[in-house]
Amino acid sequence: MSAENIHPIFHRSLDRSSKETLLGQKGIVIWLYGLSGAGKSTLAIALEEKLHTDGIMTQLLDGDNIRTGLNRNLGFTDADRKENIRRIAEVAKLFANAGIVTIASFITPKKELRTLAREVIREPDFREVFVTCSLETCEQRDVKGLYAKAKSGDIKNFTGKDSSFEPPEKSSPADLELNTDEKSEHICLEELYNFAKNVLK
Ligand code: ADX
Repeated sequence: MSAENIHPIFHRSLDRSSKETLLGQKGIVIWLYGLSGAGKSTLAIALEEKLHTDGIMTQLLDGDNIRTGLNRNLGFTDADRKENIRRIAEVAKLFANAGIVTIASFITPKKELRTLAREVIREPDFREVFVTCSLETCEQRDVKGLYAKAKSGDIKNFTGKDSSFEPPEKSSPADLELNTDEKSEHICLEELYNFAKNVLK
């Protein structure tokens, strides 16, 4: 579509720093990614509660929630996942620009998708947190029963099964990595909370 007749008013609208000053905080995006069942949503929800208790204004964006509304027309092909992440990154950017601490929790399975989110949101707002855990553990947990469905062929393109997950490369690690196989939920949350507080300083 041509942008010829589109005239954005970004430069005329109230700027971000006025909103950050009003709220007394910085807008950032903490982007959690990892396999389904790794613990992203659990940690994201708990982090939001802790920050809220500290008086910080937050917004949580979570895969299953967004896919029931904004992205209800998208599935799990590579193209749909890319559009999913593109839209979410744009929404996260809007929240961050309003001074809100935005916690995004999406599988974001490919490096290309994380790069896309980073390009939309831009540094230093964008902070990546890799929530990692073995596929075996995720399959054992199978909180939503989806790994069993993927095994029986009831779900196609399931991440970790017939759709790949690319962990971050050693040369470009996430800003924080939380291994929920090795550490308790409590410890992971403490690390995530400390990370967020440090970014917000
Ligand atoms: S992403 O790959 O595009 O980042 P997203 O985080 O939005 O995925 O959605 C993942 C959630 O959708 C999972 O937690 C799971 O509940 C559900 N889901 C349904 N089908 C699939 C599938 N084929 N692959 C992965 N997750 C799926």
